[in-house]
Amino acid sequence: MQVLRVTGGARLDGAVDVVGAKNSVLKLMAAALLAPGDTTLGNLPAISDVTIMRQLLEGMGCAVTESTVGATDRVTISAPEHLQYEAPYELVRKIRGSICVLGPLIARTGRAKVALPGGDAIGTRPLDMHFAGLERMGTEISIQHGFVVAEARELRGASIWLDFPSVGATENIMTAAVLAKGTTVIDNAAREPEIVDLCRMLVAMGAQIDGIGTSTLEITGVDGLSGTTHDAVPDRIVAGTWAMAAVATRGDITVRGAVADHLRIALDKVAQAGGEVEVLADGFRVAQADRPRSFDVVTLPYPGLATDLQPQAIAALSVADGTAMITENLFEARFMFCDEISRMGADVRTDGHHAVVRGRERLSGAPVRATDIRAGVGLVIAGLVAEGVTEVAEIHHIDRGYVRFEEQLRGLGADVERVESSTFGP
Ligand code: EPU
Repeated sequence: MQVLRVTGGARLDGAVDVVGAKNSVLKLMAAALLAPGDTTLGNLPAISDVTIMRQLLEGMGCAVTESTVGATDRVTISAPEHLQYEAPYELVRKIRGSICVLGPLIARTGRAKVALPGGDAIGTRPLDMHFAGLERMGTEISIQHGFVVAEARELRGASIWLDFPSVGATENIMTAAVLAKGTTVIDNAAREPEIVDLCRMLVAMGAQIDGIGTSTLEITGVDGLSGTTHDAVPDRIVAGTWAMAAVATRGDITVRGAVADHLRIALDKVAQAGGEVEVLADGFRVAQADRPRSFDVVTLPYPGLATDLQPQAIAALSVADGTAMITENLFEARFMFCDEISRMGADVRTDGHHAVVRGRERLSGAPVRATDIRAGVGLVIAGLVAEGVTEVAEIHHIDRGYVRFEEQLRGLGADVERVESSTFGP
């Protein structure tokens, strides 16, 4: 099995480039289904999730061509007049995010048959709000043989209140509403930068959306959309990962291509840790001279601190001076990561959706397993501040969301290699 072998001790120093956000790009690709003809997306990360999404769209009859422009990828998706409306389990189970084809398929074809993704390592992930919203718009939804089967004779605008500002539910409802008859109002909508990015692309395709970036979205359906060209918003989670890596390793990292404003709370945590934060025209710089001080973390929907930065923050806190309280409000099974980092000597106790981290001077290298993308990079950061060698297994998780992660780390002075491991046999 391939692992990332990390030899601890380096202080990360230098510059990295951040490209488009995985959690936006997958939705933008799905939204290309809404318009027959060509949609071109730029600033794409070369990650495995994009490849899987491409296969999913090809299965629906789209022709997808890729090219590389500078350091990023670009895809042109040509959606046919008549789409296949089925998304098979083999692909959906690999990326949960592929459920975002549901809204566009219903809007374009009046039907969809999308495999249910099932649970994953960060916990149960119900889709009740997606279904309730689409049902209010006139869709009939049933679960048949592991598939979500949806049919709408006519999609109608509706007033929809979300119990929680779910990213995925907001996206599926919105992408159905753009072609529905009448106006849809989504209250308590998610406000993540990736939602704003999707709204902007939909507007460029001809959609009518008011309230972009607020928790009330008003969408007036139009008769048809047309293809567009759009660059994905920079990945704030990758950028925040570098910020936490700088704090943990007492490093100095310039993150180019990021939007500091999307990370206001995360960068405030860096400042609480004693780090210096410099906002630049095209990103930011984080420099941590001394041992970080502890800071508390509460994960919340945007603009709160992202759950997708929680493991990286715990990695930094595991070597901080003091005790930190972590409250995970979205995916409490994400604390599975704590069992792995504890194998490296971190002092972390969890209770329900809270964790307490008592900082240590140093961790000690050990073989550990990534349970999801963010746990994977959190463990690599932990390896950087551990004595000796850490082997992080299940690194396919990291490849889902980080472009050439180990190469970027080496560029910052870390000793990290991708190797075959004998510790983790079959
Ligand atoms: N929820 C429900 N019912 C629903 C939908 C969501 O109860 O119908 C709950 C979830 O269980 C969770 C909360 O609502 O507790 C928020 O979930 P949300 O729907 O916002 O998350 P998502 O759309 O499934 C996206 C990202 C996640 C990220 C979350 C929160 C993608 C592909 N995934 O998931 O990213 O953690 O938003 O910001 O966009 C990651 O990249 O590592 C990752 C897990």
